[in-house]
Amino acid sequence: MFARKGSVLSESIVIAKLGGSLITNKDRALSINLKGLRHVAQAIRKSNLPSGSKKLILVHGGGSFGHYYAKKFGLTTSFSKIDPFAISKTTGAMLELHTKLRNILLEEKVSTETIPPSELLNESRTRLSTMGSRRLNDCFANDLIPISYGNVDLSSKGASILSGDTICEAVAKSLPVERLVFAMDVDGIYADKGLRGSIISRLRNENQFTSKSRKYDVTGGIARKVSLGFRLAKHGVHVFFVNGEKGDRLLNILVGKSDAKATSIDIGKSEVRNWK
Ligand SMILES: Nc1ncnc2c1ncn2[C@@H]1O[C@H](COP(=O)(O)OP(=O)(O)OP(=O)(O)O)[C@@H](O)[C@H]1O
Ligand SMILES: [Mg+2]
Repeated sequence: MFARKGSVLSESIVIAKLGGSLITNKDRALSINLKGLRHVAQAIRKSNLPSGSKKLILVHGGGSFGHYYAKKFGLTTSFSKIDPFAISKTTGAMLELHTKLRNILLEEKVSTETIPPSELLNESRTRLSTMGSRRLNDCFANDLIPISYGNVDLSSKGASILSGDTICEAVAKSLPVERLVFAMDVDGIYADKGLRGSIISRLRNENQFTSKSRKYDVTGGIARKVSLGFRLAKHGVHVFFVNGEKGDRLLNILVGKSDAKATSIDIGKSEVRNWK
């Protein structure tokens, strides 16, 4: 379906998930982390992506905007009937965060185009939709960086939360994604949920660390993110967890330098297989 000449299938794609832990102060309701946003915007500008056939797709999370209202109003990752006021309040907060992020990217001359997840993904939110694939191609053709974000998802069964991480997984399963970079407010994955000691530079299995979720988290936090990372690594995606607020680490990972301080998932080459 996607194998058109000059289509996204012929590109080499990096996905950067800008975590809510990085772009907001996650434990403080409705609080933007301006320093984190600025740092991210500068790293993306310096990466010079997109360039030639190397493309960048941005996805961001909800942090203390989306997660705060989701928690307050009982929105979860399963569909249920929710007060329309609560839905509108939550999507409004996400729009606010999204607009703030876009504006700061623009100040750094990083030009993005929004593709909402309901447009980007298929009905089951597991792959790209036909429309999503076309929109990505059209962004790339116009040198725009496509950006999507975790948000409230609606169906006849009610409302649920679709996380930015789930969007990344659906995109990475549909396209030739070379690298998936989770930019967060911590240096990588720590063995200990108290975030003590040094990070694990090569994560070989999911039992190597313990975790706990942040105050407002409704989408499973780091444990779910790491499981997702392993699923994608088994299919050939290079997965990294990096602090988006420190030095040039994010920039180095975006441009493929391997010596930046970060955690990468290492499953050994023999385990890599293709999607069925
Ligand atoms: N062992 C661990 N190693 C690294 N981070 C951990 C660990 N245990 C818990 N954490 C927490 O996980 C957080 C990152 O996951 P989280 O889902 O909160 O962030 P995010 O994906 O950036 O946010 P969002 O879901 O809003 O996009 C870190 O801020 C850290 O406090
Ligand atoms: Mg999260």
